[in-house]
Amino acid sequence: MEKLSDENIFVPKCLQESDLSQECKELIPTLPLEKGMFTAALHQYQGFWFTPNFLQGDLSCQKHFQALDNDILLVTSPKSGTTWLKALSFALINRNKYPNIHINHPLLTTNPHGLVPFLVNLYFDKDFVPDLQKIPPPRLFSTHLPYELLPKSVKESTCKVVYLCRDPKDTFVSLWHFGNKLVPQSSEVLSLEDAFKSFCKGVSLYGPFWEHVLGYWKKSLESSEKVMFLKYEEMKMKPDFYLKEIAKFLECPFSKEEESKGVVDDILNLCSFENLSNLEVNKTGKMSYGVENKVYFRLGQVGDWKNLLTIEMIEHINTITENKFVKHGLNF
Ligand code: A3P
Repeated sequence: MEKLSDENIFVPKCLQESDLSQECKELIPTLPLEKGMFTAALHQYQGFWFTPNFLQGDLSCQKHFQALDNDILLVTSPKSGTTWLKALSFALINRNKYPNIHINHPLLTTNPHGLVPFLVNLYFDKDFVPDLQKIPPPRLFSTHLPYELLPKSVKESTCKVVYLCRDPKDTFVSLWHFGNKLVPQSSEVLSLEDAFKSFCKGVSLYGPFWEHVLGYWKKSLESSEKVMFLKYEEMKMKPDFYLKEIAKFLECPFSKEEESKGVVDDILNLCSFENLSNLEVNKTGKMSYGVENKVYFRLGQVGDWKNLLTIEMIEHINTITENKFVKHGLNF
């Protein structure tokens, strides 16, 4: 596999450091700096860790993005199942537009990330603010931003937020494999032990992982009509139940007739790991920013951490999770 240069890690080719806005160029040197798992630099901004390029895009998004009341925002920590959530949500809200899921469905020819854009990707260019008004409603976007840093209009509008999280052990393992596929043999890649230490310290893209999850967990308890909180493991166990729950939350519940016609199962089959990962577009295609579609599909299972982490690592990360989550009524 072709080795990508450091500038390309997690970042569209169009954006190099020289493309940073003046604001970012001045801000970045003032921020705490750590080596990332796969990148030279992560900077801590308002408690969370960003590459310079993501910080630029996210700050521009924070400043310019105007949420509409009927927008839907899908939020995850990286490697928590974003691709699956995008596919399910896209298929769900467009089910009347594409009634025949086996023919002409956009998911058959386009990777879910091409159908539900990350806001940060839309706002990467420092000299350009995209016109998103023309997108027909309901608009579907995604972000890895923590709740605290969401654009003001997202919080103030009635737009819905669907948050998907995953056991931190599987999230870390997925991230580890993903990074190694993007930057194989790079000197920038930390050893597994050092990467694990960084992750546990909270130093990971859009981390600390636990604070990211807690921000959305607390908001979902406070305002269940605004934020829906989902776990990857639970969705894997009862996908039909959760797809129906998402449909209710997004105010487009399945009718009895749809259920009896098998629409729920059709969507689940279309969006399953097995189906999506075997589509030609996801085996051979590339995102516009250069990342191969196939790197978004690895195993798609729960519990692969058993194959990578040592007993000490498992005990260590479980303790952190318990200490952070149990007092808030959250567990994995
Ligand atoms: P693994 O690396 O454990 O296999 P993200 O989409 O947030 O980048 O997360 C990627 C993880 O989700 C990977 O996990 C990937 O295999 C899994 N994944 C991708 N598509 C999926 C699907 N349709 N169903 C379930 N899991 C999926």
